[in-house]
Amino acid sequence: MKEKVKYMILQSKSIKSYNNEAETKFITFFEDEKLDNLNLALDREIIAKIDFIISSESFKGKSEELQNINLFRNECPKNIILVGVGKRVDFTLSKFRKNIAKAVKEAAKLKSKSMDLNLDNFHNIMSLEEIVRTLSEAAVMAEYKFDKYKSEQKASTLEEFSLIYAKEDQLEAINKGINEGVILGQANLLARTLVNEPANKLGPIELAEEAKKAGVECGFEVEIFDEAAIKELNMQAFLEVAKASANPPRLIVMRYDGNPEKKEEIIGLVGKGLTYDSGGLSIKPTTSMVSMKSDMGGAAAVIGAMTALTKLKAKVNVVAVVAACENMIGGNGYRPGDIIGSMGGKTIEVLNTDAEGRLTLVDAVNYVIEKEQATKIVDIATLTGAVLSALGSTATGVVTNNDFFYNRLEQASKICDEKVWRLPTFDEYKELIKSDVADLKNIGGPKAGTITAGLFIGEFVQDKPWLHLDIAGTSWTEKDSDYKSKGGTGAGARLLYHLIKQLEN
Ligand code: BES
Ligand code: ZN
Ligand code: ZN
Repeated sequence: MKEKVKYMILQSKSIKSYNNEAETKFITFFEDEKLDNLNLALDREIIAKIDFIISSESFKGKSEELQNINLFRNECPKNIILVGVGKRVDFTLSKFRKNIAKAVKEAAKLKSKSMDLNLDNFHNIMSLEEIVRTLSEAAVMAEYKFDKYKSEQKASTLEEFSLIYAKEDQLEAINKGINEGVILGQANLLARTLVNEPANKLGPIELAEEAKKAGVECGFEVEIFDEAAIKELNMQAFLEVAKASANPPRLIVMRYDGNPEKKEEIIGLVGKGLTYDSGGLSIKPTTSMVSMKSDMGGAAAVIGAMTALTKLKAKVNVVAVVAACENMIGGNGYRPGDIIGSMGGKTIEVLNTDAEGRLTLVDAVNYVIEKEQATKIVDIATLTGAVLSALGSTATGVVTNNDFFYNRLEQASKICDEKVWRLPTFDEYKELIKSDVADLKNIGGPKAGTITAGLFIGEFVQDKPWLHLDIAGTSWTEKDSDYKSKGGTGAGARLLYHLIKQLEN
């Protein structure tokens, strides 16, 4: 993967020594509030202009409202962007993240190099650290483009974003917020890029190399098992899926020991890593196949989360596993009707070779429990088209065996605004994946597809607390919007980070 990542620099500056050095000044404005509450440090004429715009009600400060004021001059600020952030009482970080992303995009349209924003306006809302984290995350995510394969690339002009503060005792919280926000934004963008890479550039071997690269850069350990080593581990179901491809599979194992005092507590993350899913003999129509380079969105999410957990030194032990392969068609491929084994010992009747993800996942889940002694399991996968019918591309579908664990996920979801929704797991659904000729079958029929796919994985988690996240709807988007960009959304990287932070002790 040739890389040209250039991230914007976010920095804190004291108002005492700050002298309007940025080309674009953002002024965040709460709906229905007064301008004189703000400590603007601007010329009187400029303040008069802003005052006019506000008092003439052409700008009210509603959330998502932006007003650009071009000052037509050479000195800084050259333009001011009024950023509506809604009513103070209705303020949420989720809305704020979108507001800031929109503002940053506007500054990019103006071809600004530098921006500033005064944090003085955010007293008594919530912790300054959270505000700054959200703002920084939004700024990093807003201007992403996947254009590395274009002959001409349009690099963003944005280089610097200064956050202005008034009181020295705020500095620690601000710098902490910047650091966390930038790292989380970058984790999300890494996941997007991995998803956006086409399958001819990113196969199982290259995905493993990318994991290795991230591990070296951030400081987590990466072990890669080749095909012979995977055979040695007896990962029969995984190997069946991988068999028809000319590109051999890789088992990617990433380890981060952040809590040596509680060595025995290990969170096992498992990400679906189909670098391409043609459907196999149960072949997909071309229209469904074109986006199937994205079938490793779960792997991208766990790699992204590992970078953030390591860089931010989370106090937890995590092992992340990706069974990376391609689901292709070949004379030696598995067939509908085959009965196959699995690392955990259960036999599986294959009724559809396109329900391949769960076959790779159950061996990875078994591996992380048996070989890495994971005590809690989270799997994340672009697993079913059915989740798109149920929840659209708005929310990730969740199947779980543990209320407490789900509750932590909901908390995490609120922090990062990656929405989740829990699906039921009644015994009737479990009946649907029982086979007449093997222990299980790999599809549960046309109904409740997301639940039966999840419960299939649940058959391999033993008695461990477990969350299954189906991101088939949320990992990809057809259009640019606020901080999201067309293509991979990086869903899961920030969510898994916050989930794991909830489990810190
Ligand atoms: N990778 C697909 C699921 C998918 C669909 C991801 C749409 C992203 C967007 C998965 O391997 C698959 O093909 N699932 C089948 C399961 C079926 C055969 C039971 C599906 O959803 O159609
Ligand atoms: Zn499939
Ligand atoms: Zn798939």
